[in-house]
Amino acid sequence: MLIILALLTISVLYLWLRRPLPGEPPVMPGYIPIIGHTYRLLGDTVHLWEEYKTMCYTTLEKGGVLTYWVGPIKYYMVTDPDECMTIANTCLDKDYISRKFTRNLLGNGLLYGPVNIWKSHRKVMNPAFNQQVLDGFIGLFNKQSRKLTDSLSKELGKGPFNQATYFQQISLETICLTSMGLDISADNKQNEQFIEAFEEFLNMTISRFKSPWLHSDFMYSWSSLSKKQDESTKIIHEMTDTVLQRRKKEFKSKNSNKTDTNNNYENWTQARSGKKIKPLMDLLLELEEGIFSDQDIRDEVVITITAGYETVAGVLTFFFLLIGSFPEVQERIVSELEEVLGKEHRDLTKQDLSRLLYLEAVIKETMRFYPIAPYAPRLIDKDVKLKNCTVRTGYNCLLMIYGVSRHPVWGEDAESFRPERWLDPATLPSNPNAFLAFGVGKRNCIGKLYAMMSMKITIAHVLRNYRVTGDHTKMKLKFDILLKPVSGHYISIENRV
Ligand code: HEM
Repeated sequence: MLIILALLTISVLYLWLRRPLPGEPPVMPGYIPIIGHTYRLLGDTVHLWEEYKTMCYTTLEKGGVLTYWVGPIKYYMVTDPDECMTIANTCLDKDYISRKFTRNLLGNGLLYGPVNIWKSHRKVMNPAFNQQVLDGFIGLFNKQSRKLTDSLSKELGKGPFNQATYFQQISLETICLTSMGLDISADNKQNEQFIEAFEEFLNMTISRFKSPWLHSDFMYSWSSLSKKQDESTKIIHEMTDTVLQRRKKEFKSKNSNKTDTNNNYENWTQARSGKKIKPLMDLLLELEEGIFSDQDIRDEVVITITAGYETVAGVLTFFFLLIGSFPEVQERIVSELEEVLGKEHRDLTKQDLSRLLYLEAVIKETMRFYPIAPYAPRLIDKDVKLKNCTVRTGYNCLLMIYGVSRHPVWGEDAESFRPERWLDPATLPSNPNAFLAFGVGKRNCIGKLYAMMSMKITIAHVLRNYRVTGDHTKMKLKFDILLKPVSGHYISIENRV
């Protein structure tokens, strides 16, 4: 009798929790009681990308907002640009899954930090990403790009190679310099270990998401995933903590005017960049005491590296593959580079960057076509009335960046790669919220200017030296939190003379 009563109570509770609330968006077709849509996620990350695209296209077809169930967890999916903006500016918190699954590594750093902490941290962090600070990095970006160009030379004439590894390495090196003032290039092993640790962390996070039984911290703590994730976290934290402690010491001794004979930091930040740069960690250490604790500084530095290096590397990977597939686009960029920079292979200046309008159009079209960050999560923390439905307090929401970039506002050629659309306002959506590659609303990407500047400089140096060929139609993609190629993305290079 007791068992029957318990089962009855559970069933009633289950039906009550799953009841559609008044005005809620419709549920995506394929829903099965109890498991929801979870069965559709089973498979590898290549399959996950296919399912994600289906989620985007179905949501587009059904009017721009749908509901999706991962086991007991409800997600709203949004592909309408206006609705994305409304939600993003009303609900600033991130979904609880993203926050919980990344807490060990990222703590309360900007990307997934709770909104009360995020507000004060973003205010402090904004000046560290302003134009003046970033202009100070231009020398370093040029130097790093020349280094990349040199290392790519070993691929000359050898046929297709995996360009992603080159971009990952150089982006990580650059971001470690600009965020911590740490030069990891001297130690290849350290460089590889750091990249592997980040990759491992993201892989474990996605595996956990796909396994609802591991969503509970207790269950997860017994799993092998948890142990691997802890190991990656340890590697990343040990590295950042070591640098932080060293910098703090140097900072103190500098402030008390003592000569620190071990302080070679300033020498090499100057040597590497040509001009002295001020890394993010230093800007945070200079804050008035008490504003940021050591833990806060570590969280923000780790977040900057995590959010910055694979995204920039991924966009560059897609960019070179696309221009390798569209030679006329590539030649037009090269002509523009010659027009702005002249014949000589000189470094780019701040003024040059604002004149490279076609290059900027191709970068933006690359990011629309293959959005490296295909979604932005939010927690609905108050009911939000949309055009045709209401999303309810307490549920998770995915702003489907890939879906928005295929929305009909982009016109009939939304599925085509056409950089020219960015050059004429008449061929762009009148809705400014339609380009979401850097996220949306008040919590958008703090590093977008950094990313655009560093990518423009990298591309300019590589393209002035090499002609690129590739074929993006052969590329196979996977959903690894970020959108990443699995195969078919290799390019070939030859000297441009
Ligand atoms: C092309 C490269 C990049 C892309 C496509 C990209 C994209 C994004 C996206 C989609 C978000 C989430 C926004 C949202 O939820 O609405 C984000 C957030 C963020 N990005 Fe980027 N990003 C890039 C480069 C960078 C770089 C280079 C840095 C740092 C140097 C950076 C630092 C951050 C941080 C700290 C956040 C969290 C912002 C917050 O919550 O206040 N990103 N980025």
